[in-house]
Amino acid sequence: MSDILVTDDRAIRTIRMNRPEKKNALTLAMYRLMATAIQEANRMRDIRCLLVTGGAAFCAGNDINDFVDAGKSGALAEPVTSFLDALVRNEKPIVAAVAGPAVGIGVTMLLHCDHVVASSDAMLSTPFVALGLLPEAASTLIIPRLMGHARAFELMVMGRPLDADAARGAGLVNKVVTPAALEGEAVHAAREIGALPPEAVKTARRLMRGPVSELSERIDEEVALFRERLGSDEAKAAFAAFLNRKR
Ligand code: COA
Repeated sequence: MSDILVTDDRAIRTIRMNRPEKKNALTLAMYRLMATAIQEANRMRDIRCLLVTGGAAFCAGNDINDFVDAGKSGALAEPVTSFLDALVRNEKPIVAAVAGPAVGIGVTMLLHCDHVVASSDAMLSTPFVALGLLPEAASTLIIPRLMGHARAFELMVMGRPLDADAARGAGLVNKVVTPAALEGEAVHAAREIGALPPEAVKTARRLMRGPVSELSERIDEEVALFRERLGSDEAKAAFAAFLNRKR
């Protein structure tokens, strides 16, 4: 079975990350499938809202084995940048259902969602700097605007995690529910958004998110610096420590 499952049910396209044995750590194939699912949805008249979910563990971030390969090749792989580009250019509202760990891009992708429901066991963390890396997905622009510099620094640089209630307090999450209620609540929100006049939603959303160029320019800047960090001794040591931690 694919690590990304895409299903369309009337106006809602659900993108389900489905690699539970690795807590939905994202491989290049998964990035590619998610980018395609988002781009396709933007061309589908009947799809009015996207729903991103990951079951019991939302997403453990980029697969660290792929980071090691990227460090050797000196480039952030194209599927990753395509996914970021698809998120930034996406014009349809996205609801996210977050349970368990959301790490790295598992958090920063939420900045490109419009309504985030979290289960009470959700734990959001962005250990980019501890890994010798940098925050990405325009998070260096969006997170300080959302929560102010001091709280952004605590999350993005110090890497202190946020539980579901703290994430709600910080403006990253709309509603916290029990794990059993998570998917139902997210589908309910997606249907509510999908029932609104789509052109009005699209225009309001576009104005609220600001210019695409601002986000994509920041992503380009982050990606260029991220590439340098991937090959750094700091990052290599952190990847090896993670990959050898159970030995
Ligand atoms: N890349 C590659 N493999 C990963 C991974 C990642 N980002 N995250 C988890 N995995 C793998 C683990 O190595 C483990 O594999 P194994 O069963 O073959 O040993 C499996 O997924 C389950 O993870 P585990 O750590 O045993 O689960 P946990 O519930 O104890 O912890 C996390 C879950 C997400 C908190 C923890 O796995 C983690 O911190 N992952 C790294 C997250 C990260 O740093 N991502 C990059 C952000 S920039």
